[in-house]
Amino acid sequence: MTGGGGGGGAAPSRPAAEVLTFSSLAALADAAAERFIAAATTAVAARGRFTVALSGGSTPKALYTRLASPGCASRIDWARVHVFWGDERCVPPDHASSNFRMAREALLDRVPLPAAQVHRMRGEDDPPAAAASYERALRETFPEGVARFDLVLLGMGDNGHTASLFPGLSAVRETARWVVAEHVDEVGMWRLTLTPPALNSAAAVLLLVAGRDKAAMLAQVLDGPRDLDRLPVQAVAPVDGTLTWLIDDAAAANLAGERRRSS
Ligand code: 6PG
Repeated sequence: MTGGGGGGGAAPSRPAAEVLTFSSLAALADAAAERFIAAATTAVAARGRFTVALSGGSTPKALYTRLASPGCASRIDWARVHVFWGDERCVPPDHASSNFRMAREALLDRVPLPAAQVHRMRGEDDPPAAAASYERALRETFPEGVARFDLVLLGMGDNGHTASLFPGLSAVRETARWVVAEHVDEVGMWRLTLTPPALNSAAAVLLLVAGRDKAAMLAQVLDGPRDLDRLPVQAVAPVDGTLTWLIDDAAAANLAGERRRSS
């Protein structure tokens, strides 16, 4: 594994991010699981609860599978965990594309997490209404008016999207609402997504990226100029929290210098 300060470079407004690379998706998932466990342990000790926003995608799924294993699951006080989502596809919760379903099958059904503490986005409802309803739920969870998740997990698409902040659309520019609904022509469906003000209020964000198909985009995102409309994932910049990229060697292949190498 290699660490590199960075994320700054040409864009002084972008806060420092940590970039860690791993030799395989399994090693990446192990490291992400350790960070999840540490964040949960610290939050529960400090505040009696752990609030986490989950992501869809194949790379986060590898983490969920790891977290559900006895060696990891037994180290988390699930009775104090509150699970949210960073985004959802507008499909019913049992649909094969549902982010909720993926997380339920990979993790939530396998650990002693109280059902009342699983706060899914309602992909089966009218999208704008579902977004408004999720925003209300979040504002009840964070009555102080800041969406201070202890941890936000994100992936990155090979088109530079994260959560459901897609290139060329307006969600990435939202400055007031915490949750919006948007029709994404590129994928032919409505999406619900947390917005930058919500994502960037987190105490910690982990961005998980694996696979050769992400390499060209990742180099643009990390080493290129800031361009939110084309590279929405660049909007992830916690105002008072940490941003850590966990990437595998395949995704890191086009990065500059030190960041490319794992050990
Ligand atoms: C979604 C996700 C999305 C995902 C990325 C990366 O609902 O589509 O939340 O933002 O994390 O597309 O997905 P992969 O890891 O599968 O490439």
